[in-house]
Amino acid sequence: MPEAAESIVLSRRGVEGSHTLDVYLETGGYEGLRKALAMNPEEIVAQVVESNILGRGGAGFEAGRKWSMLKKSTRRYLVINGDESEPATFKDHFLVENDPHQLVEGTIIAAYAIGASRAFIFIRGEFALGLERVQSAVNDAYKIGALGRNIFGSSFSLDLIVHPGAGAYICGEETALLESLEGKRGFPRIKPPYFPAVIGLYGEPTIVNNVETVSNLPWIVSRGGAAFKALGSGRSTGTRIFALSGAVKRPGLYELEMVKTTFRELIFSDDLGGGLYEGRSLKAVIPGGVSAPWITPDQLDLPLGQDEVAKAGSMLGSGSIIVMDDSTCMVRAAWRISRFFMRESCGQCTPCREGSNWIEKVMARIEAGAGREEDLELLMDLCDNIVPGVSWPPAQTTICVLGPSIPSSVAVGIRMFRDEFLTHIKEGGCPFE
Ligand code: NAI
Ligand code: SF4
Repeated sequence: MPEAAESIVLSRRGVEGSHTLDVYLETGGYEGLRKALAMNPEEIVAQVVESNILGRGGAGFEAGRKWSMLKKSTRRYLVINGDESEPATFKDHFLVENDPHQLVEGTIIAAYAIGASRAFIFIRGEFALGLERVQSAVNDAYKIGALGRNIFGSSFSLDLIVHPGAGAYICGEETALLESLEGKRGFPRIKPPYFPAVIGLYGEPTIVNNVETVSNLPWIVSRGGAAFKALGSGRSTGTRIFALSGAVKRPGLYELEMVKTTFRELIFSDDLGGGLYEGRSLKAVIPGGVSAPWITPDQLDLPLGQDEVAKAGSMLGSGSIIVMDDSTCMVRAAWRISRFFMRESCGQCTPCREGSNWIEKVMARIEAGAGREEDLELLMDLCDNIVPGVSWPPAQTTICVLGPSIPSSVAVGIRMFRDEFLTHIKEGGCPFE
């Protein structure tokens, strides 16, 4: 059994009124910001670099390194990405609803550290309650002098704007999000050259950080980067929220020290996932968002760490872990994922736009029992046309990573569960229905 981790971002879980200013102040709220304002911005950047916190949105880029790459400019922006839309990822949703002040405090600290006087929190439009609570936390922060001119009597001033998304998954991609904030259609930009840290919002250097990433900042500033780094192991420092879903008895959010827990422990420990339902056996696990290649039951002893999962040929991504047992139709699972990408493709790049459509069509006919044996080779060929060699990590053939994410589940499904695909074809339908 793993030892209980120190809770950082979920420390107020279960506390009644955790979203209110009163409870936040009673539980140490805004102390991190007061401490930050007594430091100079470079010292905060140094603490964050020392903590080695990896971005929690999915790519896992070092947050401190990203801040250090910000191009010198008189005007710079901070944008918080709360457009969480990855299937089965629901950690930021919880944070915006239940601890909005922690997010607001982390945002103010980040803005102070990078020298931004205007920041935005972009929240998925469907998170109606979260939007309401973050806006109310922002209003409260203005009232107590944590936002606006001369924050807590310092020389630092910041305006913070809460902006709702309009329902497109692609706007979670940081450059599409910036386009959307600018009032345009959510089309990703080509990076490089358009890394936001160089050319971001309104053409100015911009840092885009995830909700969970900045929610860690009040703790990092209060306790120091070294204390954060003491948790976890290797490059994977601190704790991380894992969103566990699928065929387990106790799905939910688990904040765990990175690397110290394995997939097996998360899924089967009584105080974590609680195991599978009676009589069921494990078929596969999706370890980090639906673009991640599936892992098999013999890989369950992998630790929940960024590099550990990458070395095993997949990724920890957004920290969402989907468990599939022997009642799951793998053809249907792969088809549903391909349908998701097909619907969410923005259409700018041919391999993504056309490839997702063709893959979804062929997958749909196999699942419906109208497939042909040669469809499996056709699917692999379509995958190869999006990502040459259907390699992992995928080669970048399109403007953003959505395109190269499409082949993963289909190719891995065919490679791991070819017999199941063939049964659908030979029996003319889904054996699980
Ligand atoms: P990325 O690897 O291109 O970039 C990561 C971050 O580092 C970005 O902020 C980027 O601007 C910055 N960066 C990288 N190289 C840089 C350089 N040379 N100079 C300046 N900045 C640099 O990854 P991306 O496209 O931002 O994110 C992809 C990931 O997002 C996927 O792996 C997936 O796991 C995750 N994702 C999460 C979702 C969610 O709902 N949480 C939804 C969809 C995808
Ligand atoms: Fe749009 Fe897909 Fe190209 Fe990304 S890869 S820019 S989603 S068409």
